[in-house]
Amino acid sequence: MKTFKIALIPGDGVGPEVIREGVNVLNTLADLDQTFTFEWTEFPWGCEYYTKHGVMMDEDGLEKLKSFDAIYLGAVGYPGVPDHISLWDLLLKIRKGFDQYVNIRPITLLKGAPPALLNVEREEIDMLFIRENSEGEYAGAGDWLFKGQENEVVLQNGVFSRKGTERIIRYAFEVARKEGKTLTSISKGNALNYSMVFWDQVFEEVSREYPDVGKASYLVDAAAMLMIKDPKRFEVVVTSNLFGDILTDLGASIAGGIGLAAGANINPERTYPSMFEPIHGSAPDIAGKNIVNPLAAIWSASQMMDFLGYEKYGALILEGIQQVLIEGETLTPDMGGTSTTKDVGQAVIKHLCPMIQQ
Ligand code: NAI
Ligand code: MG
Repeated sequence: MKTFKIALIPGDGVGPEVIREGVNVLNTLADLDQTFTFEWTEFPWGCEYYTKHGVMMDEDGLEKLKSFDAIYLGAVGYPGVPDHISLWDLLLKIRKGFDQYVNIRPITLLKGAPPALLNVEREEIDMLFIRENSEGEYAGAGDWLFKGQENEVVLQNGVFSRKGTERIIRYAFEVARKEGKTLTSISKGNALNYSMVFWDQVFEEVSREYPDVGKASYLVDAAAMLMIKDPKRFEVVVTSNLFGDILTDLGASIAGGIGLAAGANINPERTYPSMFEPIHGSAPDIAGKNIVNPLAAIWSASQMMDFLGYEKYGALILEGIQQVLIEGETLTPDMGGTSTTKDVGQAVIKHLCPMIQQ
């Protein structure tokens, strides 16, 4: 029997509520399959931990996480702790420390999910965003000079290394080739006259190794418009850290809402564990009410199964989510329903069981 060791970081606000449902789904799969099992280890890190201990995670936190097969994270951030601290000292520390340089965010309007765009067929919203996740605008390089004085100056530098830029673009070409899809690069070479001119150049260079893959390149502002007006143009998409962050929230809103958007932080070489999380935050406005939508977290559990080599179960979880949406009877309030978080998790499980026992 194979045992997958998974580190759980439920985090803040609604994080623990959604992670609980994802864990239930994964345990159900393990029970039904009987060839593998999960060993969960929970870490209490996050903003509450910070208020007690003055740190978001233990000093040797990365060392503690290193030996796990994967990390399953809820959300971090809560009023009272500055967002740049909660983000940098936990989430970004893990993404960077474990070189999870690929952020995979599917933007697919599942059957039954509420459509947001007029005049667009459901099948036309089916993109896979591959966001650079280790440097770029989130490199944390800069300075804050003459703080509070009249001549105050703030610098926030984008860092685009050749290694970092090439590897993410090559990864995206590999995915596009494997899936028989086009690859679109999104940048801003007109205004960002160093970083994005470089990005475009590397995209051109790497594309020569993939003559069989159709390619396109857009400026980020035009891409934002086209994602709404003509989303079918986008199949596999590669973009920088900040642009990817913003565009995938836009993507989430046209693909059923933030309660359905999942993301995987991947270290492709598997030197370090990869991390799976819903892309939403800790939603303090609805935390503790048992009404948060767990489907994004459950979708990220499906990404985890893909990563662990059980694509069959990854696909089944997605199918289970889709069945719940099509049925439309067990939905949380953000999707117009009146069900609880727990009900929605159970509804996914209810659909999974017969699919697996068949
Ligand atoms: P948010 O994603 O937490 O919430 C935005 C809005 O969407 C809220 O009205 C919330 O109720 C709703 N919402 C989000 N997820 C939902 C779900 N699954 N079901 C139903 N409704 C949902 O973003 P916000 O408010 O900007 O940030 C709150 C905190 O979360 C901040 O501290 C922020 O730094 C942190 N954050 C953490 C992230 C992470 O851990 N990956 C990502 C984004 C924000
Ligand atoms: Mg974001």
